[in-house]
Amino acid sequence: MSLPASTCESLDPIVHQFPTPGELGQAVGERIVAVSKRAIEQRGEFSIAFSGGSLPGLVASALVEHQAQMDFTKWKVFLADERHVASDSADCNLKAVQDLLFSKLASPPSQVFGLDHSLSVEQAAVKYAEHLRSVDGLDLVLLGMGPDGHTASLFPGHELLSYDGDSPVVAIKDSPKPPPERITLTLRYINTQARQVWFVTTGAGKQDAVARCAVPLSKLEANPLPSARVRPAQSAVEWYVDTDAGARL
Ligand code: 6PG
Repeated sequence: MSLPASTCESLDPIVHQFPTPGELGQAVGERIVAVSKRAIEQRGEFSIAFSGGSLPGLVASALVEHQAQMDFTKWKVFLADERHVASDSADCNLKAVQDLLFSKLASPPSQVFGLDHSLSVEQAAVKYAEHLRSVDGLDLVLLGMGPDGHTASLFPGHELLSYDGDSPVVAIKDSPKPPPERITLTLRYINTQARQVWFVTTGAGKQDAVARCAVPLSKLEANPLPSARVRPAQSAVEWYVDTDAGARL
């Protein structure tokens, strides 16, 4: 089987399994604390991309608990994907990150890069790409996964899976999951520019997709789901799953 050009061959995935979503969220949050501290010590800043969905809520309590040890002034926060909707819409991923996580911190990060919702989705993607070019890759990309195996706004069978250009972010106008207009990190960017990539996935509805995606390269399907194509060049992709999501591994 040959993988698309944008997919880097790398180490096999590392799977971390937890009995409950609460324990999983605590472990991921504590690891974010450690990784952010190390990045700030080594390079003076920490760049992270959050996904929407359940992810910000899962890691919130651990980050709140450890906030006194963290220097959020050195954080640069991006989104793995964003919906082209009003910034106060319940569909806005940045609003979810703010409401579920940052609003609970005494001194939240101020360098937070949201979508310019006043622009067309194509123009907003170009502007967002400039924000990403202002950092030297991302220290950590946190990804969720849908039951169909999509991640960020990279959907099964969509032409964006084979995008091999050099923009870190592209627009999508026909997302099968509403709302239709979004921006998303590209597979190529995730695979080449992220120092670490972690999937955070819970619930029985994800069992099948986890079993098809969190697998060694040697066991990949002929036409892998989008999440299975996340194979970062700089470190093994890591999967944080609860017992339900990991039941078929
Ligand atoms: C989006 C999300 C999406 C999400 C997955 C998992 O904007 O649609 O970023 O990629 O992460 O659908 O969502 P859950 O964790 O809520 O299942």
